[in-house]
Amino acid sequence: MAEPSAMPEPALSLREHIAAIEHFGELRHVRGADWDLELGAIAELSYRMPEPPAVLFDEIRGYAPGLRVLTGSTGSARRLGRTLRLGDDLDDVGLVAALRGKPSAWAAAAADHPVRPVESAPLLANEVAGADVNLLDFPVPRWHDRDGGRFIGTGCLVVTSDPDTGVHNGGCYRMEVQDEGASVTISAVPGKHGAQNVERWFARHGYAPVTVSFGHDPLLLVLGGTEVPAGVSELAYAGAVLGEGVPVVLAPDTGLPIPAGGEIAVEGWLRPDHKRDEGPFGEWTGYYTGRRRPCLALEITRMYHRDDPILLGAPPGRPPHDYSYMRTVMKSAMIHDELVATGVPGVEAAWAHEAGGGRLFIAVSLRQRYAGQARQVAHLAAQLPAAAYMNRYVVVVDDDIDPRDLDQVIWAVSTRTDPAEDFEVMRRTWGSRLDPMLPDGATPHNNRAIIDACRPYERLGSFPEVVGSAPEHLAEIRRKWGAALEG
Ligand SMILES: Cc1cc2nc3c(=O)[nH]c(=O)nc-3n(C[C@H](O)[C@H](O)[C@H](O)COP(=O)(O)O)c2cc1C
Repeated sequence: MAEPSAMPEPALSLREHIAAIEHFGELRHVRGADWDLELGAIAELSYRMPEPPAVLFDEIRGYAPGLRVLTGSTGSARRLGRTLRLGDDLDDVGLVAALRGKPSAWAAAAADHPVRPVESAPLLANEVAGADVNLLDFPVPRWHDRDGGRFIGTGCLVVTSDPDTGVHNGGCYRMEVQDEGASVTISAVPGKHGAQNVERWFARHGYAPVTVSFGHDPLLLVLGGTEVPAGVSELAYAGAVLGEGVPVVLAPDTGLPIPAGGEIAVEGWLRPDHKRDEGPFGEWTGYYTGRRRPCLALEITRMYHRDDPILLGAPPGRPPHDYSYMRTVMKSAMIHDELVATGVPGVEAAWAHEAGGGRLFIAVSLRQRYAGQARQVAHLAAQLPAAAYMNRYVVVVDDDIDPRDLDQVIWAVSTRTDPAEDFEVMRRTWGSRLDPMLPDGATPHNNRAIIDACRPYERLGSFPEVVGSAPEHLAEIRRKWGAALEG
């Protein structure tokens, strides 16, 4: 069926995002690459460029022109700032400043922005009955050479609901195409809100309804892939970011919403005994994850897609990877917000470093007000909802240290800690099967360390002075001698 040309783009359209980043000059076009390992490798090269561009792949080998894949959708301050509706010309520092306080404000405003069901959408141009579904009609990449298969779900949004409250949850989980394209596995880690909803449905009804969107404005990738508080729907949260309810199509079989701005969507059922082998997959830790193992597979009842649909790809890997920048920026803002919300004074900044995938290594800066405060902040930070999953190190530094600057953080650890006093270990905390340190078959706990790299509180007045000229003196010297220095 031809796509009605008069139909306006619904909110959260991937096409509008692509037009915006083309306008920024941050989009590259690659034609003729192979879905089998070439898209993944080209994307990997792009992430390592000094200013990583987004890449739109077209004319993918074996597929008709127009069937496209986008990577790198949020990999710069301008792209992420646009995605979060914070502005189109932000730099790194401006983005972090603009985000201060926003995650908690959006979470609080979500209830005022419920989804808005619509009857028509470009997504509905093509409807495919469950028995005819073939996800391999689209150029689903095999991203990394040891992946167990082709993963259509990287930048996806999986919608589930709480069977008691009806509140929707949108989560981003890896999804491997199964049964020659007829099905797909959804690999949500136990404890994630989506996994909890599915477990609750299984306990009550023996099945769980699900919808999945595979191409949309990356706002849904960012929110689906970030720890939005329990009980808050990511779709309503997206409405709070937009300032208006997200338009959705209500899927006929499951009744669950599908973002109307989407490119490809499926609905169907999960059942406890319907599984397929899944994985391994190159993950955000920078490692492949263990063996191929059974995983819940979706019984697809219906699929919709636009004409010439575009898949939103977000392949992880050794950082920097597709979404490590957005995860670092989002996690840092959420951890800062949550720390401030505990009421502990003096927290200046938090940074969830990209090298740790935005999870493993967190630095927090603090203006110390009382004895014991640095440890309190360290323990809290390591267990905040935004940080608890798979954190391994929290370093707390004084407020003269920029927690985003690893050199400064390491300098503080090197000069302001006594390893016998300032390192503490928490045991049996929330780990993951993705952890390369987890022995095969072990329960997914982890241990985590906090490092108190603040000057000892009782020596704040007598700790050796830091060497370095005063900023005003340096500014004066730069005025006087800068030209000679720069040559
Ligand atoms: C591209 C991408 C892929 C992800 N893959 C998975 C995955 O396979 N399994 C998982 O449990 N979490 C995965 N995550 C992390 C979750 O999306 C994240 O923890 C999210 O907060 C889960 O939402 P929920 O707690 O509402 O279920 C991924 C995130 C991104 C951005």
